[in-house]
Amino acid sequence: MLSKDLGPEGARGVMVCGEKIFLMRAFGRVNAVQDRCLHRGVRFSARPECFAEGRITCWLHGFTYDVADGKLVDIIAAPGAGLIGKDNLKTYPVQERNGLIFVFVGDMDPPPPLDDDTPPTYLDEDMATEGIARVVNSNWRVACENGNDATHIWIHRESPLIVGGDIALPAGFFIINYEDGVEVIEDTGRKGVISPHGRESHLPCFEPKVEGTPILDIAGKYGTKRVATTVELWMPCGLRVTDFPQPGMTHFEFYTPIDETRHLYVQMLGRKVANEQEAKRFRMEVQALWEPLDLRGFNDEDIFAREHLQEFYQDDDAWLNEQLFQGDVVTLRWRTVCSRWNRGIQWRGPRRLDAHADVARLSTVSQE
Ligand code: FES
Ligand SMILES: [Fe+2]
Repeated sequence: MLSKDLGPEGARGVMVCGEKIFLMRAFGRVNAVQDRCLHRGVRFSARPECFAEGRITCWLHGFTYDVADGKLVDIIAAPGAGLIGKDNLKTYPVQERNGLIFVFVGDMDPPPPLDDDTPPTYLDEDMATEGIARVVNSNWRVACENGNDATHIWIHRESPLIVGGDIALPAGFFIINYEDGVEVIEDTGRKGVISPHGRESHLPCFEPKVEGTPILDIAGKYGTKRVATTVELWMPCGLRVTDFPQPGMTHFEFYTPIDETRHLYVQMLGRKVANEQEAKRFRMEVQALWEPLDLRGFNDEDIFAREHLQEFYQDDDAWLNEQLFQGDVVTLRWRTVCSRWNRGIQWRGPRRLDAHADVARLSTVSQE
């Protein structure tokens, strides 16, 4: 999520990969614990109560926890109760970098470096960033595949960003050389696919026709500025488009899974800057100009597409019933990378594995 959405003194609940997580700032950093009281299970975020820095008190019976390590440090109505100090909330590794809060919900301990899970340059110290985040009603995998789909740019042809600017955006790209047209990156910690639009492997279509009859004169209507020189999709869910929406800017997207049917669509624009003054000017420029034109005007078309793709892909057999073509080669490469390097399947939420183990143990006992 965005740092500004948590605020300087913030506390709020989020859902990531189906897990309810409570975020709270304390002593200058963000902490993340399960958003479920150990006592009777209510969510802290329903009514966050904090009586000392770094402590969250459950609003129902006063169980109080340290948000840094999850420890139960007090029970307001029962000081000295035996449970105090003996139980813990699940905690999640958190990092706050370049305007975003990253929470690791996987099972790996320690978690992988954040560099491995973010697009190149996003975390660079001299990369100024500004953006927005909103909930989209589609599975996150549908969003990933929409982000680097080489022929979906057809849907952007009427976007004010394109029509009103001096931007050259074709009706689509046809990849004529697969070897040169898609780069698969698997030999570093960061895994992904790169689609270099600027190369001759990508044949842009500037004269769209239906059965030989021109239907739109894109070449005459649109500008000359070359944008989106590469489109890159990085595991687990990060997109980077270089030189977009203008040469010298970078467009980043993160498709964070909320649950099976929703993702948090995080859209960030970046530009390399020399100092904080330039960074501040850039953030104002994004808010005034690029948010309405690019992040909303242009990308609203992507949201429309994803929510309609979801109707089809919500059924598991959709992956068998789709009919792909040459233009989908980037998507196929991406799926290959995901199937090779995914980190497996884990149970949702805290203690679920324990619960399953307990059921197994009880059933063994009852059989004896
Ligand atoms: S449910 Fe939280 S203290 Fe009882
Ligand atoms: Fe798009």
